[in-house]
Amino acid sequence: MTTTAKPPAVGVAHSRVEGRDKVTGAARYASEHHFEQLAHGWFVLSTVARGRVRAVDDEAVRAMPGVVAVLHHGNAPHVATDYVSFLGPPDPTCAIFQHDRVPHAGWPVALVVAETPEQAREAAEALVVEYDEEAHDTGFRADRADAYVPEDGQPVATKGDLDAELAASAVVLDATYSTPEQHHSAMEPHAATARWDGGRLEVFDSNQGSMWVADEIAKMFSLDPASVRVRSEHIGGAFGSKGMRPHQTAAVMAATTLHRPVRVALTRRQTFAFTGYRSPTTQRMRLGADPDGRLRAFGHEVLNLTSTLRPFVETSAVLGRVLYDAEAHHTAHRIVELDVPTPTWMRAPGEAPGSFAVETALDELAERLGMDPIALRARNEPAVGPLSGLPFSSRDLLGCFTEGARRFGWADRDPRPRTRREGRWLLGTGTAAATYSSGVAPSTASVTAEPDGGFTVRISAADVGTGARTALTLVASEVLGVDPARVTVRIGDSDFGPAWVAGGSMGTRSWAWAVTSAAEELRDQLALRGQDVPPEGLTARVDTARLLAELAKKERHSFGAQFAEVAVDVATGEVRVRRMLGIFAAGRIVNPLTARSQLVGGMTWGISMALHEEAVRDPASGRQLGADLAGYHVAANADVPLVEADWIDDPIPADPLGIKGVGELGIVGAAAAIVNAVWHATGVRHRDLPLRPDRVL
Ligand code: MOS
Repeated sequence: MTTTAKPPAVGVAHSRVEGRDKVTGAARYASEHHFEQLAHGWFVLSTVARGRVRAVDDEAVRAMPGVVAVLHHGNAPHVATDYVSFLGPPDPTCAIFQHDRVPHAGWPVALVVAETPEQAREAAEALVVEYDEEAHDTGFRADRADAYVPEDGQPVATKGDLDAELAASAVVLDATYSTPEQHHSAMEPHAATARWDGGRLEVFDSNQGSMWVADEIAKMFSLDPASVRVRSEHIGGAFGSKGMRPHQTAAVMAATTLHRPVRVALTRRQTFAFTGYRSPTTQRMRLGADPDGRLRAFGHEVLNLTSTLRPFVETSAVLGRVLYDAEAHHTAHRIVELDVPTPTWMRAPGEAPGSFAVETALDELAERLGMDPIALRARNEPAVGPLSGLPFSSRDLLGCFTEGARRFGWADRDPRPRTRREGRWLLGTGTAAATYSSGVAPSTASVTAEPDGGFTVRISAADVGTGARTALTLVASEVLGVDPARVTVRIGDSDFGPAWVAGGSMGTRSWAWAVTSAAEELRDQLALRGQDVPPEGLTARVDTARLLAELAKKERHSFGAQFAEVAVDVATGEVRVRRMLGIFAAGRIVNPLTARSQLVGGMTWGISMALHEEAVRDPASGRQLGADLAGYHVAANADVPLVEADWIDDPIPADPLGIKGVGELGIVGAAAAIVNAVWHATGVRHRDLPLRPDRVL
């Protein structure tokens, strides 16, 4: 085999390697694997918000056509709950059918298994479940006396004396912001098909980490980890909601009990009910500044809700610990336990709602100071981590603002609000900063030189629609010095070994590190052998745990500047986003095509967050209202104008890979830029999302 000098693969736009499979239907998703004897499970969900299941009267239902089993707390297999998976303790939400308690409306109380999905659904709808109902409480408010500081989730960070610095400040802002409950709604609802095959449990599942789910299933069902295989080759979106969820538990329970393959595919409404969501937040911002804009005090206190099952923290207060310097910082989280489903990570968990409060507050402060909002941010740019004191691996927030301002035309802006009008439309522009952490986690990859001159990469990565498979193809081909067409990347299989999940904007960085290391080792082995590939192929396998341990401790983050122009209808209060521009500093961009899609997708979600998304719970019943894509509004094509995302060079000195992450970054600050633009258009400040027309004027 000979390798010739190739033009670089990384950094050159490449369409998805599996794109053709996806558009022709050849790509198989979790609920599209067919097996002999396949049975179908359908969940029955609690109609009460709190209480106990008194009886599951399944006799009549078991006699219905096609029904093969009804699983519930009275007969389901016992599962372990006292284990620690590689992402920490399990979510108790997944331990279904273990007790008679109902912690929230929509809690899975039974699974009906039948020969066809239609039979399972009909029987599930006919199943009579009796409850001992108890009084419930789903009321989320800023003044909850039972809110508490959680143990985990970086609850509090403090530097200096906030009150003293506020008292010494010439200009003070003390304002409370709120964001509503929001849902992920991945295009492909959660689904799992489980079967026992020759003594091994095989689960086809839609998730963000096949190794993660395999690890959870093995521990939950007390199985030898080597006997569990989770496969997730294609995934239709995830956004934080696709980890271990009740559908995998149910599918494995049923397949184990019935000795036949079982599929559990959720409906859209079921994904709203128990696959996680973003908690609503209330956020108090206290900022104090000198007349020249230098921050003396930065206070950010966040309250989110969680279930009675798990203390989930929406870490909205963390971004202020990175973004701005101040004499005193006080940033803190509190949570309140309610009779609601457990929230979870959702696209830029923490930073998405947190940036709405921080970046709107900064804009309000700039107005009070009579300062340009970009100049205010420049004035408070830290030299090192404001709380950690650690150096930044690289930080070019101001470079993003400079380039963004130039391309957006910020210099021509009249800072006074309500000065531009076109007929019935008031026009305005706004800006906001973005940041997200760029972590890295150990992963294992193998790269094989095949006798036919091709290369096969194996890593239990997940491509949730991001283009991860293509990015890793480019990374491997660059290191190996071969055309991307000669590299096949196989992902989404727990048999490939431990790997980080598609989450926390850490996927590409973590997996690329392992793939790079394995490809380098293979390249060296091939050089030693004079490029001779044995008939069985030659494989190098690397686990990056040791490499990553040597990484210097630094503040590692991506940055960005968001710009938006809006038009507000003076008669109806309708807000139309006219254009958005995001300029980002996110390290080395592996595949400009899919990176841009990620960022534009995040910004588009920011439009949705600013103007549309709001899940509503009925306090009387504790149930969700309009829990589907008819009732839960998301931005549609007509709401999304020209959204442009681009980036500046962001070299990371002393970083062997240079990659950050772009998954979460695009939504951060996007809603604030829009809301700040609405103020500029109308002169009216808004602190509560979404900006429904009835709130705007
Ligand atoms: Mo992201 S919320 O870690 O999928």
